[in-house]
Amino acid sequence: MEGRWYGLVYRTVYRLGLTVWERDQPPSELVDLVEGASPLPPGRALDLGCGTGTDSVYLAARGWEVTGVDMVPRALEAAARRAARAGVTPRFVLGDVTRLADHGIGGGHTLVLDFGCFHTLPDDRRDAYVRAIGAAAAPGATLLLFGFRRAPRFPMRAGVSGAEVRDRFGRAGWEVVSADQALSGALAERGAGQLFDLRGFRLCRAGPPS
Ligand SMILES: C[S@@+](CC[C@H](N)C(=O)[O-])C[C@H]1O[C@@H](n2cnc3c(N)ncnc32)[C@H](O)[C@@H]1O
Repeated sequence: MEGRWYGLVYRTVYRLGLTVWERDQPPSELVDLVEGASPLPPGRALDLGCGTGTDSVYLAARGWEVTGVDMVPRALEAAARRAARAGVTPRFVLGDVTRLADHGIGGGHTLVLDFGCFHTLPDDRRDAYVRAIGAAAAPGATLLLFGFRRAPRFPMRAGVSGAEVRDRFGRAGWEVVSADQALSGALAERGAGQLFDLRGFRLCRAGPPS
């Protein structure tokens, strides 16, 4: 992904502090999955496009073995500071989420989280992303994916639709458990959530949970 213009956009946005997606709390959908009525048992979690690490730190503090991946060094530096403040040690990896194996990200992840990363991937990298998470996810793994349905004023061609998720991930053995749910909680009420119409998808990888 190095050298692609959208990497420059992200680096610039972090440098200027224009990270409108920033939040201090995990999305309520993730909290529900981890602490709700039928919580997932802690295992290995992969936070793709982890940014400044809010969700990685949340999961690590609840006993998950977490790897967060992002392509912006400044974001990962902030993530490491956040983890240190919280007294947890998720692994943060600088790299491209469409090339996880090249960065030494192994398999066996029972939870894969993507809050706002897939939806800005260029079209020609999206199948590579699906292949990469396929190699990283355990049988029966859960994927929680959040993205814009539309991004009228975003400086990238961003977005993800229910049809795309069903098709692209379905072909790779992921079953859609819930699709196109409007994001709930504080972020949805803020400007970014309303402007971009953030949607959430929960998927399950074929095979018994490990
Ligand atoms: C909208 S931000 C969300 C950050 C974080 N998940 C959060 O919710 O605060 C998307 C993140 O994905 C990262 N990203 C986008 N494309 C990536 C890629 N191909 N490889 C690694 N990181 C990527 C960006 O650097 C950015 O930090």
